[in-house]
Amino acid sequence: MPHYTHHIFVCENVRDQSDPRGSCGAKGSEEIRKKMKAELKQRGFKGKVRANQAGCLDQCEHGPVVVVYPEAVWYGKVQTDDVHEIIESHIIEGKPVERLRF
Ligand code: FES
Repeated sequence: MPHYTHHIFVCENVRDQSDPRGSCGAKGSEEIRKKMKAELKQRGFKGKVRANQAGCLDQCEHGPVVVVYPEAVWYGKVQTDDVHEIIESHIIEGKPVERLRF
């Protein structure tokens, strides 16, 4: 059983476009998780940091939502361009990306 240093959850819930709550999946969260997995693998974090798909985390208005454990840091309005900074700053340097927190 691998020991993970971090576990990253990316909400990929998809709602109908007509739903006023919106959804992370409709705002491109699948691409965020894919980019995260690819960069983690490329940087040698396979088996150490895991990025998983999550269902609705009940913070839809902040979507796309990403949560990083064990710190339980919540990030909102995450874009694919933010993935590198989350990995570099939070995962590697241990400094959460303050501008994305909510
Ligand atoms: S749809 Fe992502 S938090 Fe609800």
